Amino acid sequence: MKKPHSRTKAKAPAKKTEKVPIAILISGRGSNMRAIIEACARPDYPAEIVLVLSNRPDAPGLEVAEEAGLKTLVIDHKPFGKDREAHEREIDAALQASGAMLVVLAGYMRVLTPWLVKAWEDRMLNIHPSLLPAFPGLHTHEAAIKAGVKEHGCTVHLVTSGVDEGPILGQASVPVLETDTPETLAARVLEQEHLLYPDVLEMICDVFAK
Ligand code: GRF
Repeated sequence: MKKPHSRTKAKAPAKKTEKVPIAILISGRGSNMRAIIEACARPDYPAEIVLVLSNRPDAPGLEVAEEAGLKTLVIDHKPFGKDREAHEREIDAALQASGAMLVVLAGYMRVLTPWLVKAWEDRMLNIHPSLLPAFPGLHTHEAAIKAGVKEHGCTVHLVTSGVDEGPILGQASVPVLETDTPETLAARVLEQEHLLYPDVLEMICDVFAK
């Protein structure tokens, strides 16, 4: 006779109850931010958004955040001219005041100075639309098609002072089709971005959660 399976299960680790406060930085439409907002609505998701900050007053993502009832703030870079650090000192003050433990860049279209990167070292994430280290910088979908790669995708990484160079936390790939244009490829990658970013953020917040 077959031995019955034991019904005694290993004891699950105690559930962490406190959510990790995060701030999201945007410059544009904020579709990745929206994916994170939706994930944060899950009761068991380990993050809560305490601030959405944009450097552009006209970023469409601001409306998305407001509709979701989130606190939003605009710190326009224009009045600061070439003084990028002065702009970032103001951003940093707002981030500190918000109580955020992690900063999530979601289509934030400014290269950060080493000063802000250092201030949030190991606590700032970015999503980039390529399989890094391939195709850092802008116009990644055009570059992927031009290079003739068969696989393309997106990467979530920690932010370091080298642009798109920080340690990789997660990647998702898609096939590149012969019929692809930069637009069709971008749309296929974006679908993956919306799955990958909340997943990686969940993994990181589980480490930070109490
Ligand atoms: C995304 O493709 C992201 O990978 C890149 O900027 C774009 C932002 O899109 N960093 P959205 O504002 O999240 O829709």
